[in-house]
Amino acid sequence: MSELSVNHLLGIKYLNKKDIELIFETADHFKEVINRSIKKVPTLRDITIANIFFENSTRTKLSFELAEKRLSADVINFSASQSSVKKGETLIDTVNNILSMKVDMVVMRHPNPGAGIFLSKHVEASIINAGDGAHEHPTQALLDSYSIREKLGSVKGKNVVIVGDILHSRVALSNIFALKLQGANVKVCGPRTLIPKHIESLGIEVETDLRKALDWCDVANMLRVQNERMDISYFPSTREYTQQFGINKKLLNSLDKQIIIMHPGPINRGVEITSDVADSKQSIILEQVENGVAIRMAVIYLLASKI
Ligand code: CP
Repeated sequence: MSELSVNHLLGIKYLNKKDIELIFETADHFKEVINRSIKKVPTLRDITIANIFFENSTRTKLSFELAEKRLSADVINFSASQSSVKKGETLIDTVNNILSMKVDMVVMRHPNPGAGIFLSKHVEASIINAGDGAHEHPTQALLDSYSIREKLGSVKGKNVVIVGDILHSRVALSNIFALKLQGANVKVCGPRTLIPKHIESLGIEVETDLRKALDWCDVANMLRVQNERMDISYFPSTREYTQQFGINKKLLNSLDKQIIIMHPGPINRGVEITSDVADSKQSIILEQVENGVAIRMAVIYLLASKI
């Protein structure tokens, strides 16, 4: 029987191509399940999962919780802002206290890069990284690639541009790893100040002209400017950023092919993307969210089978 090469999902960096194929094949099955009238399977009746979120989330938190419930796992939710973390409790103590209640798996979002890796070395549970600072957001990258595969038949050979704040984006890094592993051609586009200096070493090109990037690509993944991770200004004004790196309907319609528009959310409408593009037929933003549940069911199921 096929199984993942890892016991935790800490980043796409730790997966191989076969892992991604297995996750997608498993997600295909679960996508069929969640479109039935009875959307639940009894598969993980004996598993308890803790979702611990030290940073805000809408999509990832709800999507994981729904995925766990669709698999019939027992679920507990922990939000750092309402917890004893505020009284000085450490991450390891917090998680070990949760695990002593017989929890098998931890889904964690944390503002510090590497928090999931650290945790996996100190606690006895399977860890899923739901976003660690500006490092990785593996399930987002998996659902993004899965959505491209669903829309275009495959990821291999497709031209994908990731546009925006690459420097602070865990989504960008995880997408680069996932797309390259599957044989896509990847470029990033944004202000030079928001592109990491050594990004070319990952085998991708930098394009600072959005028009040229859009002419080249099959898929444009538009990212939000992460103001909450910035302590200085990286561009003169939001207006100027939008003029140079925002996508609007006029620009989209001027291309000589129909590209696919993606966005991991949350969207800043009118900044990196206008409403008429976000809500257009070329946008698959809500399909990405829908696919997130099937992808997370697949990841949880495959990791749980190794416990
Ligand atoms: N895409 C994503 O991670 O969204 P949330 O921050 O709402 O979870």
